[in-house]
Amino acid sequence: MISIVYFSENGNTKSLAEVVATGARKIENTKVNVFSIDDVDYDCLQKSDAVIIGSPTHYANTCWQLKKWIDELSSYNVNLEGKIGGVFVTAQYVQGGADIAALTLIQHLMVKGMLVYSGGCAMGKPYIHLAPVAINGNDEFNASLCDTFGQRVAQKAFDLFSK
Ligand SMILES: Cc1cc2nc3c(=O)[nH]c(=O)nc-3n(C[C@H](O)[C@H](O)[C@H](O)COP(=O)(O)O)c2cc1C
Repeated sequence: MISIVYFSENGNTKSLAEVVATGARKIENTKVNVFSIDDVDYDCLQKSDAVIIGSPTHYANTCWQLKKWIDELSSYNVNLEGKIGGVFVTAQYVQGGADIAALTLIQHLMVKGMLVYSGGCAMGKPYIHLAPVAINGNDEFNASLCDTFGQRVAQKAFDLFSK
């Protein structure tokens, strides 16, 4: 099982979370949940083999709402240690700091003891080094990137936990 957790003020990140989920569901036997940070089913989260976090870029960083949610996770008795962790971010500008937003999230996943995975350049094109970065909403290019990312994370979760 995979859970995708996002914060979205204006709908871009929510929309791309659904695309990541569509990609992940293409891998056999993969059940995928999509949660806004306001309606997370913590039981499902704890049972997930992989957790993917999606954030808009705010002021060249992760949005504070997700930072707060991650900081408070232990109060919901959630332990993410040993799970695959991946991130995706949305932004308005290429030069708007999306990579920093992604790296901040990756840092948090590492602190939680997660096995951070992007697929990297090892998977070939489209190259996703740190995370998919969706500039300016859910267009064809961004959707393809996020769908591919969902497939790659789900395939890795299947290979590690279901074989
Ligand atoms: C408070 C705020 C700060 C933002 N700061 C940045 C920024 O630093 N760099 C950038 O590229 N986009 C920035 N944006 C644009 C959002 O990252 C972008 O529109 C994103 O896709 C919004 O996601 P959402 O629709 O899920 O809320 C900002 C938006 C808001 C509301």
